Amino acid sequence: MADKKALLSIPGMEDGTNQALELPIYSGSLGPDVVDVRGLTSSGLFTYDPGFVSTASCESKITYIDGDKGILLHRGYPIEQLAEQSDYLETCYLLLYGDLPSRQEKEKFENTIMRHTMIHEQMSDLFSGFRRDAHPMAVMCGVVGALSAFYHDSLDITNELHREICAYRLISKMPTLAAMAYKYSIGQPFIYPRNDLSYGGNFLHMMFATPCEEYEVKPVLAKAMDRIFLLHADHEQNASTSTVRLAGSSGANPFACIAAGIAALWGPAHGGANEAVLVMLNEIGDEANIDEYIAKAKDKDDPFRLMGFGHRVYKNFDPRAKVMKQTCDEVLTELGLENDPLFRIAKRLERIALEDEYFIKKKLYPNVDFYSGIILKALGIPTEMFTVIFATGRTPGWIAHWHEMISGDYRIGRPRQLYTGEAKRDYIHVADRS
Ligand code: SDX
Repeated sequence: MADKKALLSIPGMEDGTNQALELPIYSGSLGPDVVDVRGLTSSGLFTYDPGFVSTASCESKITYIDGDKGILLHRGYPIEQLAEQSDYLETCYLLLYGDLPSRQEKEKFENTIMRHTMIHEQMSDLFSGFRRDAHPMAVMCGVVGALSAFYHDSLDITNELHREICAYRLISKMPTLAAMAYKYSIGQPFIYPRNDLSYGGNFLHMMFATPCEEYEVKPVLAKAMDRIFLLHADHEQNASTSTVRLAGSSGANPFACIAAGIAALWGPAHGGANEAVLVMLNEIGDEANIDEYIAKAKDKDDPFRLMGFGHRVYKNFDPRAKVMKQTCDEVLTELGLENDPLFRIAKRLERIALEDEYFIKKKLYPNVDFYSGIILKALGIPTEMFTVIFATGRTPGWIAHWHEMISGDYRIGRPRQLYTGEAKRDYIHVADRS
């Protein structure tokens, strides 16, 4: 509860005095205190915060980020420890249930997820409605939303069991739909999921196997895929998670909410950045061109930004980028690609940027998207599939936030505005207009 109060002095009372308004201040377990501004409406004022730079939209126990110290905790566990010692499905369990599973709980959760990876066979027909050259994110927006047209037996969001079934179905089926979007784009047959493979291994098998011959997934690649999903699993109230929460606040079904999150993630300022980083590195093409692109990124008149750099919250290293860079090193070395030209350009670009006054002053560091694309490319995944991978990895985070909101007290999200349009004016018939 409130243990401190903020005092607001509001000018403009009829008698020329100021209205004194006390607003409660709440403290969390970690991070900044918050001022509860709900009492402001009595004064007739709104708060104004485009982009929600200084706004806490909700209370949450799932993920904590300290942008100045480069800290990321999932239910209190540091991302570095989870990346090193846990795995993706265990992290999914942690995000959903709040604690690490016991051995039995872990086994049961993994078995349940891996035995629900098939989709309703009729959903396969949906893909043929898309052009083969559609962006796979466009396909994912469609087919994930369509899950509510096939699994409407468990859409009562007031029913805890239904909420859990939806969570499991989404985590299980996202990789299958993602791989199908890729296979459809290259005209190859869909590959059914395999229950005997790991989550990451099954995804790579569905992506690259064909009916013509056995496809063996290299363990190091399956592990790298699992690590990439894990590093994308959740990230507090980012744009796509906030979209899922806002959609969910109207009572929309979870499949529709996740489809809304996928749409928000697609933008190049958000999850679309990993694809944009690869496009940028290919455009730079050679280490000799790096200085030219650094200059473009600093030029206010040039819309070019260094993709994969900067973050709304991190004003220090994105801890995920550090782990991703280390994974990049491991995978490329394992594959004998340590001299990968794009990786060389990326490492040199990072070194130059981090020594440049502009980036230092604006606290622009590599974010999660800067190195992920290089690993994904090394795994054989095409650039336009990168954000689909991000969406697949982020599904447990989106679901955990949706579930946290729906399981508690919530109201429909309905922000207000600062109106600067026309005052009331009367209609003029077209015959009387100049
Ligand atoms: C993700 O929120 C999350 O947690 C997201 C995410 C998650 O896991 O969900 O972490 C995933 O989206 C990572 C971010 C991926 N996006 C990119 O890499 C795209 C490139 N980065 C930027 O577009 C930008 O840094 C954002 C969008 C990430 C952050 O934007 P902000 O917080 O609104 O910051 P801003 O645009 O106001 O920039 C502040 C200043 C500006 O200069 P001034 O107007 O003050 O002079 O820094 C400059 C910007 O021009 N700047 C950059 C830059 N990013 C910011 N200049 C050059 N290159 C960049 N990349």
